[in-house]
Amino acid sequence: MSLFLMAAEPVEGVTQWKFGAVDLYSDILIVALIVVMITLLFSALVVHKAMKSILRVTMPELVREEEAQKRLAKAHGKGKWGRIWNNLLELRPIDEEKDMVIDHEYDGIQELNNPIPTWFNVLFYSTVVFGFAYLLVYHVFGWGLNQDQEYAQELAVAEKAKQEYLAQAANLIDEGSVQFDPAMAPAGKAIFTANCVACHGAAGEGGIGPNLADRFWIHGGEIKDVFKTVKYGVPEKGMVPWEQTLTPGQIAEVSSYILTLRDTNPANAKAPEGVEVKAYESEGASADVAETPADSTVNK
Ligand code: HEC
Repeated sequence: MSLFLMAAEPVEGVTQWKFGAVDLYSDILIVALIVVMITLLFSALVVHKAMKSILRVTMPELVREEEAQKRLAKAHGKGKWGRIWNNLLELRPIDEEKDMVIDHEYDGIQELNNPIPTWFNVLFYSTVVFGFAYLLVYHVFGWGLNQDQEYAQELAVAEKAKQEYLAQAANLIDEGSVQFDPAMAPAGKAIFTANCVACHGAAGEGGIGPNLADRFWIHGGEIKDVFKTVKYGVPEKGMVPWEQTLTPGQIAEVSSYILTLRDTNPANAKAPEGVEVKAYESEGASADVAETPADSTVNK
């Protein structure tokens, strides 16, 4: 559709003539051209008529002969199209009728032996051939799939597509499978701006909620910890559980965004809270070094 519209739009650099669009002179020119062409057409018609009348006066018998011939051809269906039509239907000319009469008669009613037209025979025999081929392909050799097999095949395809979809579906992510992905940060930033800035500050500097741009964490600073905190919240401390509001995919995005805030040193940063996490798994530390300190409770 848009392609169609684009094609209809005037091509740049090509002036399209429209009344009043260019200037008065081209308008006049175009109108004059149209008038000239119409005049030419008319004069041609007039000349044609005149020639005809001259012919009628000078050679009347020729004209009469021609007209008679035309009438005859029409009556016999011998015009070009008439011939094609007759051939297609295998219609015989009316004056061959006497050859086709079958030799019997009832109460003055005679029967003609009209052959079946070729097109009909071709159609008929091709259905026979098709039927035979169909029988062989589907029921004798089993080359084609019958309905049940087709159904099973489509089910298998759909099942595969479903599995692929489920495997990719971001929304199957949970705190066990979530991965830090910087590519998700822009989407996460939008979610953060819409939902979290009131308590955590526009740059994650903290406010009602803790500073998210430092290396100190109450509930752990790995992607899995952050995901868990955002998902289940810390209701008794005022951190909202987001699992009802955000999809798991969105929580993963916002969690990845939060991890990109680390060490950004925003203005008005809130004093660190919790335990400093010196080495992050994402920075190459092994899991047990980066483990959440024992005193921090993770709300479930
Ligand atoms: C109503 C205010 C409020 C909103 C809105 C809010 N938070 Fe929080 N958040 C808090 C508070 C308060 C805490 C501290 C909880 C505690 O002390 O255990 C917190 C803690 C956190 C923590 C853990 C920080 C740490 O040091 O372990 C993360 C991560 C977090 N919030 C992310 C988010 C995200 C992401 C959003 C938006 C989707 C969000 N928060 C929205 C108030 C809020």
